[in-house]
Amino acid sequence: MGIFITLEGIDGSGKTTVSKILKARLEKDGYKTMLIKEPTETPLGKFIRGEILGSRTETAAPLGALTALFLFSADRTVHIDEIKAKLNCLDVIICDRFIDSTFAYQAAGLNNTLEDKHLKNFIFYVSEFILKQKKFSIDRTYLFDLKPETALGRLSGRVCKIDGFDSRPPEFFNSVRKNYLCLSEKHKERIKLIDASAPIEKIAGEVGEDILKMLEKRKP
Ligand code: TYD
Repeated sequence: MGIFITLEGIDGSGKTTVSKILKARLEKDGYKTMLIKEPTETPLGKFIRGEILGSRTETAAPLGALTALFLFSADRTVHIDEIKAKLNCLDVIICDRFIDSTFAYQAAGLNNTLEDKHLKNFIFYVSEFILKQKKFSIDRTYLFDLKPETALGRLSGRVCKIDGFDSRPPEFFNSVRKNYLCLSEKHKERIKLIDASAPIEKIAGEVGEDILKMLEKRKP
């Protein structure tokens, strides 16, 4: 049975680049490794990407937190079954975004009103419930922590169009970051905080070492 790793962080935090370096490193050491992501590459995942990340018509109302929660959760529920099956024949699966993204993003920008507090709790509860129901857990999460200003600076350098979430104001990403940090306090054992302002190679080295240690421990 392989280990399941998730990478989290605000857009532009460098996790996708690091995931590629990690795959190469782990494979060099002989570990069967697979990179996956959420939203998934399934028709539902692609639909979500289109709806949420910008291909909606300009006149359409933006999707609310609850709609997004259910869409991402539906995608994830099916995804978990696939991941469980794949873990039987792989050493490591690295997933670019998973449940923590849902809490960090869908609960971002919510206020301190009672209604918003309930919504926040509900978002958290749904994600936990899915994991419990599916009898599934994450072995380790690396949270790429970075100031939104730095991340947005990196994004504006990308060739692709910045749309959807990436076009939200810095306050939105501050809220996402705060939610992530709150999760890392809640799950100290699982979530490892990574200083994403460090050079990419250094980050990949640190994360790679940690994964290799976990793999060593599992050896019979
Ligand atoms: P993507 O283009 O994959 O961005 P990135 O490379 O930064 O991961 O888009 C994923 C977007 O979807 C990202 O802005 C975060 C958002 N998202 C949620 O809001 N909730 C979720 O549960 C997930 C998985 C992603």
